[in-house]
Amino acid sequence: MTRGADLMTEKRSSIHGQWSSRFIFILAAVGSAVGLGNIWKFPYITGENGGGAFVLVYLVCIALIGVPIMIAEILLGRRGRQSPINTMRSLVQDEQAHPAWSLLGWGGVITGFLILSYYSVIAGWALAYVFRAASGAFNGATAETIAAQFDGFLSAPLSVLAWHSIFMVMTMVVVARGVRGGLEKAVTFLMPALFVLLLVLVGYAMSLGAFSEGLDFLFSPNFEKVFYHCEVTAAGVEQCRFTGEPMLVALGHAFFTLSLGMGAIMVYGSYMPANASIARATFAIVAADTAVALLAGMAIFPIVFSNGLEAAAGPGLIFQTLPIAFGAMPGGQFFGTLFFLLLVFAAWSSAISLIEPAVAWLVENHGMKRVSAAVLMGVLAWILGIGTVLSFNLLSGEEFQLFGKTIFDLLDYLTANILLPLGGLFIALFAGWIMSRSASMDELRMRDGMGYKTWSLLVRYISPLLVAIVFFNAIGII
Ligand code: TRP
Repeated sequence: MTRGADLMTEKRSSIHGQWSSRFIFILAAVGSAVGLGNIWKFPYITGENGGGAFVLVYLVCIALIGVPIMIAEILLGRRGRQSPINTMRSLVQDEQAHPAWSLLGWGGVITGFLILSYYSVIAGWALAYVFRAASGAFNGATAETIAAQFDGFLSAPLSVLAWHSIFMVMTMVVVARGVRGGLEKAVTFLMPALFVLLLVLVGYAMSLGAFSEGLDFLFSPNFEKVFYHCEVTAAGVEQCRFTGEPMLVALGHAFFTLSLGMGAIMVYGSYMPANASIARATFAIVAADTAVALLAGMAIFPIVFSNGLEAAAGPGLIFQTLPIAFGAMPGGQFFGTLFFLLLVFAAWSSAISLIEPAVAWLVENHGMKRVSAAVLMGVLAWILGIGTVLSFNLLSGEEFQLFGKTIFDLLDYLTANILLPLGGLFIALFAGWIMSRSASMDELRMRDGMGYKTWSLLVRYISPLLVAIVFFNAIGII
């Protein structure tokens, strides 16, 4: 069954086809990486975690953990040329490693499915906002009206469910056709268009009095504010204690935003042309992803401060801020519609990468048709997504929470802060310690020079140690 397992060290090829060029691989990976994580999640978790110092930790995580682990994940994928589950199986045989390493592929399939369930709900919000923007609902609206519109929207579970359903169908359609088909073309011009539109928004933000306040919030680190939580006790004494939580959120987000730790980038790597440089592709993907996140922050925080809004507003942040800008700027109805439309496309090209590992595996091992596999996974994720839909209305009350978290909060915490870092840790360990140096050097098309040595140092020691320290610290073990 596991095609390629008997080929041992000979070059494998993917039964699912290949990207038509290395440029298309980069675009597809950027399509996966750039999504709600950059434009919706990065700004709101930055707001919740106090700004600059959090951003700095996030950037350090991207550079020291994200880059080497992305190289590792693409490398494993291209070496195995199958779905993550079978790729890991084949690599375990090649390297005569312990079979337990194959669990990595399984963990990824489950993680992707859990993420897709809530990702689709939030993408549904963005979809609804395309139509809202087009209808002119934001024109001249105040911050209060915009906030009331958003609250009203979330409080109607059936309409949120409908948008979630539409987005999930869109995702299933693309995955059913094979990720290469329409996606390649769409991604080629939509991603650059989104980038340009973000520049327009940042341009608008510059015209606001609070632009420098916004930049300050994002880029001047105040470690005490972020990492010490102070409380005034009953006796009136202020007590402060260190908290590692923002560091875990930054670490988890580095994985989330780069699509790392669950096999999405691995499966995309398995479709990568043999002659393309993995390291160069990685730098391009990471640069694009980071630029989009920072631009989104630079557009949003000036709007937050110039309207006296709450930076820590949570998951609704972009839906409560950007519409104010669209309502006030010339051509805002047009730009607003286009912006949310491009956000939906960005989310779309990310969502498909969340179930591609599972679908590729069902096709390989169960001889399922792509269509059936995509529908099966999509329907399962859709059902679980109902929990997230209800987290913002019927089930938002404290009596429905566990550890003070709604279903959405729990899924987000479990996937981004726990499962992705763990997956990434094991990917790093496998690529750095289990895979032979000759195999990794061969696949990276590198000689034993500075570049390879740096990567090897990062992936063997530095990334695993950092992930382990942050992780165990935040869950209270060290
Ligand atoms: N990276 C995407 C974003 O920022 C989300 C995403 C797509 C993802 N595929 C993934 C996250 C795989 C983790 C793992 O929106």
